[in-house]
Amino acid sequence: MEDQTSNAAVTYSAYLKIDELLALQQPRSTGPEHDEMLFIVIHQVYELWFKELLHELDHVMALLTADDSARAQHTLKRILTILKVLVAQLDILETMTPLEFLSFRARLEAASGFQSDQFRQIEFLLGAKTPTAVQRFAAGSRARQALERRYVAPTLWDAFLQYLSREGYAIGSHLTRDVTTAIEPDADIQAILITIYRRDPKNAELCERLVDLDEGFQEWRYRHVKMVERTIGAKPGTGGSSGAAYLRTTLGKNLFPDLWEIRGRL
Ligand code: HEM
Repeated sequence: MEDQTSNAAVTYSAYLKIDELLALQQPRSTGPEHDEMLFIVIHQVYELWFKELLHELDHVMALLTADDSARAQHTLKRILTILKVLVAQLDILETMTPLEFLSFRARLEAASGFQSDQFRQIEFLLGAKTPTAVQRFAAGSRARQALERRYVAPTLWDAFLQYLSREGYAIGSHLTRDVTTAIEPDADIQAILITIYRRDPKNAELCERLVDLDEGFQEWRYRHVKMVERTIGAKPGTGGSSGAAYLRTTLGKNLFPDLWEIRGRL
């Protein structure tokens, strides 16, 4: 509904809060070092896309809950397009050489993408939940509250199983699974998915979009590790981990294992 309460004309900069936005890039290095601006801008842009991704992922869950699979698929396509942009953005950061990064790295102190609560929120929504990721944030903070909420909330996979159940598939006890635990492969769900792929094109398409999402998220992880390797080699991360060695342990883990398990049997 249109806002009738204000007489001031809406302008581009007022609506988008451009002055506030442009005041948010504050390098810490002296000079400041040229490349720190890129580093700040790219992280801020990522956080904005993470915000939009969460907005759209919550929407997909609501649409599945409303049995609106057509719009859920439409929204998933938007999410996948954003993911492609997220991956492509790493190309920009890879134009920064190791020495250019070193020119300001010490000023980051312990700051790291490791502490991105929105990234953890996305992981939680997609089913990759770890209680330690919640505890890393100060009690009562916005980040901690958001993660606590998402930790106990159903995941996208749970919303999908609930939807399939209403579509007539016998999902059984999985409908009441403990949503804080990992999504484990399951023979009964796999049998249902095989039936869907063979006989139910509408829901098979939905499954394919979830595989796209899973693959797209893993693609980001892989490209991020390679970028880290070429920028800092085997050095430890600013966030306190072993760096690339830690990041490599996060690769190759499927979010929705059943959708991958069945592919050799179709
Ligand atoms: C020069 C650029 C970058 C370097 C060298 C770098 C390095 C690292 C390292 C070493 C880690 C492991 C944790 C630690 O000990 O710090 C990490 C984690 C992470 N970084 Fe980056 N990073 C870079 C850019 C980015 C960008 C642009 C983003 C976008 C938001 C990002 C997001 C993340 C996330 C979300 C994690 C946690 C991953 C996980 O725990 O699975 N990083 N990064």
